[in-house]
Amino acid sequence: MTFENTRAAGIKSSPSMAIAMAAKKLAAEGRDIIDLSLGEPDFEPPAHVAEAAAEAIRKGRVRYGAAAGMDSLRQAIVAKFSRENQLEYKIDEVMVANGAKQILFDVFLATLEPGDEVIIPTPCWVSYGDIVSLHGGDPVYVSCGPEAGFKIDAATLEASITPKTRWLMLNSPSNPTGAIYSDSEYQALGQVLARHPRVLVISDEIYEHVLLKDVPFVSFAQACPELRDRTLIVNGVSKAYAMTGWRVGYAAGPKALIAVLNKMQSQSVTSVSTIAQAAALAALTGDQAFVGQGAQTFAGRAKIVADRLAQIDGVDFTPPDGAFYAFIGIQRLLGRKTETGQVLADDPAFAAHLLQQFGLSSVPGAAFGAPGFIRLSIAASDRELEGACDRLGAMVASLKD
Ligand SMILES: Cc1ncc(COP(=O)(O)O)c(C=O)c1O
Repeated sequence: MTFENTRAAGIKSSPSMAIAMAAKKLAAEGRDIIDLSLGEPDFEPPAHVAEAAAEAIRKGRVRYGAAAGMDSLRQAIVAKFSRENQLEYKIDEVMVANGAKQILFDVFLATLEPGDEVIIPTPCWVSYGDIVSLHGGDPVYVSCGPEAGFKIDAATLEASITPKTRWLMLNSPSNPTGAIYSDSEYQALGQVLARHPRVLVISDEIYEHVLLKDVPFVSFAQACPELRDRTLIVNGVSKAYAMTGWRVGYAAGPKALIAVLNKMQSQSVTSVSTIAQAAALAALTGDQAFVGQGAQTFAGRAKIVADRLAQIDGVDFTPPDGAFYAFIGIQRLLGRKTETGQVLADDPAFAAHLLQQFGLSSVPGAAFGAPGFIRLSIAASDRELEGACDRLGAMVASLKD
């Protein structure tokens, strides 16, 4: 018997989560596994975050909340955009959801008609395409390889837009590549979009604060103010404040769109946990030193990984500008054989061998729409990262022509 309708059957479980589960299972069986498949900071949120949640519980602030989020948190989000991005939103132009991920559910649920297209430059986060499909849209993957800096340019965007295009999905800094769009790159895209008034923009800025070099972050709405009324900024506290499990994301955009997203929430989740919202409020309004320290830690780790990978023959790696991933080109190694004679024909086979025989869990590039790569999270201790590079090096050295 099958329980799935065609929409559910048409999508897969999150590949990175599935791989993380497989790695956990091997570890539970006693295998020595370094799991670098999932992207989440490996340190605790600042102490005042947990304290704010505890206080919300102690004081009984535990009833249903408003669908859009607590007023105090929405005010803090308004203040964040003004302070950090020089963007002025009113309180009814921002909303709170169960993570950035839920905002994508809300927005595609509310806006896509069957067959509407969503342009997704690849490599892209594993979930974008399936969330679009689940809501009846057609993901249009546009390949943006290393030669393009893993970014979509104006000409490619223009060529990808059709009468059915509804959304352009942008993500900077990018998961998995760490690429960051500059002001002028966004403006060039903005000029194309100005000619296509039906096309709306989602700018996923969840890695805004994970900056690893001197490359500055710019918000899409800041670079293209004339497109503010058709831009939805998606962000959250998961990555900046190490709060992945608290499930608090937020969005900013035109009032009418935000109202529709709130309507979706009111009929689905009701509200985000008010305890988690109290914690997010403390994160956004408290001392921000934590955020910069996190970025510094990740920058140090990116350097460790870059130095080690440079010593492995056959892998291609450009250190990322942002986010906390190493996106490693393995094209030159594909087609080679393992010690038992198995041909590693593609990146899923490569990643499977790396996990099974060398105990290192990675995510194959195919999951990001980018065959020929693997992604390692660098949100792990220096020792784990060194161990991971050693294991990758040992595997590469074991391959035969
Ligand atoms: C690019 C990107 N967007 C959104 C998310 C989801 O963030 P949240 O924890 O706020 O749902 C992730 C999580 O890995 C991500 O990598």
